[in-house]
Amino acid sequence: MKFDTLPGFREFYPQECRRRNFIFDNWRRVAKAFNFKEYDSPVLEPLELYVEKSGEEIVGQLFNFEDRGGRAVALRPEMTPSLARLVGAKANSLKRPIKWFSIGEHYRYERPQKGRLRAFNQFNVDLLGEPSVSADAELIALLAESLKAFELTNSDFMIRLSDRTVWILLLSAQGLSETQTHSILGVIDKMERAGRDATLSGLLKVLNSDSAAEDLLQGIEALAKVRDLAQLKEVFKSFDLSSDLQEQIENRLKDWADLLEGLRLRGVEPFIQIDFSIVRGLAYYTGFVFEAFEASGAGRALAGGGRYNDLVKKLCGQDLPAVGFAIGDVTLVDLLEEKGRLAIPEDVPDFIMIIGGEAERAVALSDAAVLRSSGYQVEYPLKDIGFGKQFKEADQKGARFAIIYGSDEIEKNILKVRDLQQGTETDYPRTNLLEFAEILFEDGEDA
Ligand code: HAM
Repeated sequence: MKFDTLPGFREFYPQECRRRNFIFDNWRRVAKAFNFKEYDSPVLEPLELYVEKSGEEIVGQLFNFEDRGGRAVALRPEMTPSLARLVGAKANSLKRPIKWFSIGEHYRYERPQKGRLRAFNQFNVDLLGEPSVSADAELIALLAESLKAFELTNSDFMIRLSDRTVWILLLSAQGLSETQTHSILGVIDKMERAGRDATLSGLLKVLNSDSAAEDLLQGIEALAKVRDLAQLKEVFKSFDLSSDLQEQIENRLKDWADLLEGLRLRGVEPFIQIDFSIVRGLAYYTGFVFEAFEASGAGRALAGGGRYNDLVKKLCGQDLPAVGFAIGDVTLVDLLEEKGRLAIPEDVPDFIMIIGGEAERAVALSDAAVLRSSGYQVEYPLKDIGFGKQFKEADQKGARFAIIYGSDEIEKNILKVRDLQQGTETDYPRTNLLEFAEILFEDGEDA
């Protein structure tokens, strides 16, 4: 009988685990550098948590079922609703701003394809309780740093920055209702992949008028082409706006200027591309939104996020503005492989013990226990094998030092250490094992 893995699920052999840990370690290090604290949540959640909150696209991709107690449950497709619940439940006692991150597996029933699986890891970083754009700037800087941690530069990736508030202002200037606006944001989200004709028919479904759909599409195309604030101002000028709307737009342009300045001060400007074709598929975003891509814009997003000021309130009744993002490991590994940035050094033993026979084994095992308790990586053969074969294996395993336990060494009470990289051999008196280990590694570092 053959038991294959399920489609879209990965197995992690030690080599893949090492790669995964390398990625997680880098993410963790960056989050800590910005003083974010780690949290986690259950992987199985009430289905209800995602319905309406995450938006149609994710609900259509849920791994959901009824548990034995008759509860409707789902494997977590994303972290944000769980985070909103965690924070909402303790909102009054948590010190603000709340700066939290999480690394874990998420599940979406998507068609497995390049960059998309059914089980994938996400690094989620969120900042709650701070409405000003400095929070957005901080998070975007953290996103850039999380990719720079892999020695990626601005010729490898870019962050496309957009704003749902701008879209909502412009769409409401066209006299569209809130429901229509949301449907149209859904059409814009798919615009790049769908092409012009499909986008036009998507707009037509909402507006029911050929000329209105064509006019709106032209407006949308004009905004999608904007690459700086001056161009954005020009687009606004081309619309006939009420004075009330005019004022809201002025305020938003000021937020834009503040955000761009915040990004400049944080050294992130070279990674930013203003691009209003980004609106994000998830329903809860309310302001600035962003996605990271390979520098040419090809392929699927590496990361996505934005401001979501209403979600905690909708879930828990607590008014808590928030901004956050998630990076996925699938697209990141593809990019790192493509750029040759996944050459992670092998994890090799510090010491390999070469053991003469049963009598010497007792001493070797006791030394190994002392070294291991001090954090050294120590390996020895589990049964008696010839010296020659042991040395060969020590070389193959890439160990730094071999300690030789022959009858002679035990009798003379010496530690015979062979430096497997230099090919030299040195005898030390067997007095203080740990002291010698320390000296060996200090010398090794100098070499
Ligand atoms: P998202 O854009 O749905 O946002 O996902 C973020 C990232 O997760 C994507 O850019 C991609 O790298 C990865 N990802 C998503 N689905 C898959 C999949 N099926 N296979 C492989 N990778 C995938 C969110 O999840 C938001 N909750 C992010 C957020 C946090 N917003 C605020 N805080």
